[in-house]
Amino acid sequence: MKVLVIGAGNMGLTYAEGMASSPLLSKHKLRIFDTDPKKIETLRQQPQFDVYNNLDDCLPKADLVFIAVKPFHSENLFKIMKPMLNDDQIFVSLMAGVTIETIQQQLGKSKVVRTMPNLPAQVGKGVTSYTESETVSKIELLMVRNLLDTTGTSIHVATENFIDASTGISGSGPAYVFYFMQSMLEAALKMGFSDYDSKVLVSNTFEGAIELFNQNDISPKSWIAKVASKGGTTQAAIDSMDDNNVKQLIEDAAYAAFDRAVELGKK
Ligand SMILES: NC(=O)c1ccc[n+]([C@@H]2O[C@H](COP(=O)([O-])OP(=O)(O)OC[C@H]3O[C@@H](n4cnc5c(N)ncnc54)[C@H](OP(=O)(O)O)[C@@H]3O)[C@@H](O)[C@H]2O)c1
Repeated sequence: MKVLVIGAGNMGLTYAEGMASSPLLSKHKLRIFDTDPKKIETLRQQPQFDVYNNLDDCLPKADLVFIAVKPFHSENLFKIMKPMLNDDQIFVSLMAGVTIETIQQQLGKSKVVRTMPNLPAQVGKGVTSYTESETVSKIELLMVRNLLDTTGTSIHVATENFIDASTGISGSGPAYVFYFMQSMLEAALKMGFSDYDSKVLVSNTFEGAIELFNQNDISPKSWIAKVASKGGTTQAAIDSMDDNNVKQLIEDAAYAAFDRAVELGKK
C-alpha cells in the first residue's frame, strides 16, 4: 500500500510523521508532496519520507491519498489531480468544511473518507473523527483507521453532520482548553505568582485533573461534587461560574464552531 500526503503543513506533516513512525508502512511507501520549495528542501533532509514536488511522479501510483491543504486551495488542486487518478484510489480529506460530495464531484472519483483531526495529533494524542462515502469498503476503512490512529485515536461517525459537530468539540476544542488555561494563568499572575510558578500551577492542575478523569470511571460532574464541599473554596468558584452562566457560554461556543463548519461546507 502506497500512501501519499498532499500538503506538508501542520496537519499533513503531523499525519505523515505518525504514519512514518508506525510499523504499518515500510520505507518508500510514504510519499509527501508540497508546492513550497523551502518545505521540500527541509523535508528532503528527513529520511523517513519520499518527498515530491511534482504530482505526476507520485499521485498516479498512490493507493491512499491524504489531502491536507487549506480548504481554499482544494479546488485548484483537484483540477490538477483529476487527470492523474484511477478508480481504486481512496482520498482521505483532513480539510475542515469540504464535503464528501464536493470532493467526489471535483475529483470525479467516489472513494472518499472525510475526517476532522485535532492539534494534539502532533504529540500522538490526537482524536480524529471520520466518515466515508458508500463506495469505501469495510477493509479499506479499517486500513484508513489504522493510519489515522498513528496520531492518537479515532472515532467513526455515521454522517458528515457529526464531522461538523466534532469540529465544535475536538477540532476547535484544544483552543477552548487553551482559553481556560490562559484565564487561569492570568489569574495566577494577578495573584502575584511568577511566570514559572503560574505555568507549573496551571499545567499540572490540567494534567492532574485529566489523569484523574482517565483513571476513574467518574463523570466530571461527580468529580466537582467530590472536591467542592458546601461553603468551601471550590464551591465558591463553581457558584461564581454558575452565576455567570459559564457552562452555557461554553456550549454556545461549541455550537458557534459547529455552525461555522456547516456554513463553510455550503460555500
Ligand atoms: N491546524 C489544525 O489544527 C487543523 C485542525 C483541523 C483541521 N485542519 C485542516 O487541515 C488542513 C491543513 O491545515 P494546516 O494547518 O496543516 O495548513 P498549512 O499548515 O497551511 O498546510 C498546508 C500545506 O499545503 C501546501 N499547499 C498549498 N497548496 C498546495 C497544493 N496545491 N499542493 C500541495 N501542497 C499545497 C501549503 O503550502 P503553502 O504554505 O505554500 O501554501 C502548506 O505547506 C486544512 O484544510 C484544515 O482545515 C487543521
